[in-house]
Amino acid sequence: MPPFISFEGLDGCGKTTQVRLLADYLTQRDIQVAVLREPGSTPAGEWIRELLLGSLNKELDPLSKLLLFYTDRNQNLHKKIIPALSEGKWVLCDRFADASAAYQGYGLGLDLALVETLDRMVIHGRKPDVTVLIDIEPSLARSRASDRNRRSEARNRQSPQLSLPFLGDNDDRFEAEFLRFEAESLDFFRRVREGYLQIAAREPNRVRVLNGSQTIEQLHKEVLGLISPFLPGNRCDGVE
Ligand code: TYD
Repeated sequence: MPPFISFEGLDGCGKTTQVRLLADYLTQRDIQVAVLREPGSTPAGEWIRELLLGSLNKELDPLSKLLLFYTDRNQNLHKKIIPALSEGKWVLCDRFADASAAYQGYGLGLDLALVETLDRMVIHGRKPDVTVLIDIEPSLARSRASDRNRRSEARNRQSPQLSLPFLGDNDDRFEAEFLRFEAESLDFFRRVREGYLQIAAREPNRVRVLNGSQTIEQLHKEVLGLISPFLPGNRCDGVE
């Protein structure tokens, strides 16, 4: 069975870039990859994403959010992750269940036992083979988010003709990320970070912590180091 790899970290930690770099690396080596994200990935999941990350978000209490994240996860697991693995594809997922424990449990203060119950109901112990946790100080994540947002606003003011589809995507993402930082306190992100680190301390064989303040290239090299046991020709018994 090919590996199931999730990427986690605070908003702005750079995980989406690392997912793309790893997907490119694997594709160039003729390895088939399914790149997924949570929330999202399935049609219902993308709709749930809109609900969770759009303006209606304010109406949702923490438990409603948690249930929606798990509804999305259930869809993703059965419609995308399991089928992709059975077809022999590597699965790279931008966030998975650890995000619910970190954000809704540690961050928003929901009972962690509730998150564990949902894990048992929905993922049945189907945890990723490796979780790449890109660890970053909340203050650095926030300053990256506001820099990126300022740069994309300035670009749009100076050269509106530059709003090509791919730039538009990024600009929307940067703005959404910036607004999430504005909506939550730095303390919230400190709790989320602490939560992720506690999960990593409990499951050190699965959750590998990388320093997110390094350059994109350095991080990519470290990610390759983590996944190398799964590459064809290598033994993968070093990773649970
Ligand atoms: P992300 O996909 O990282 O956003 P983007 O693609 O815009 O960088 O994350 C979306 C947000 O959803 C992020 O703030 C974390 C949050 N989230 C949770 O709170 N719980 C979850 O279970 C998941 C999957 C995400």
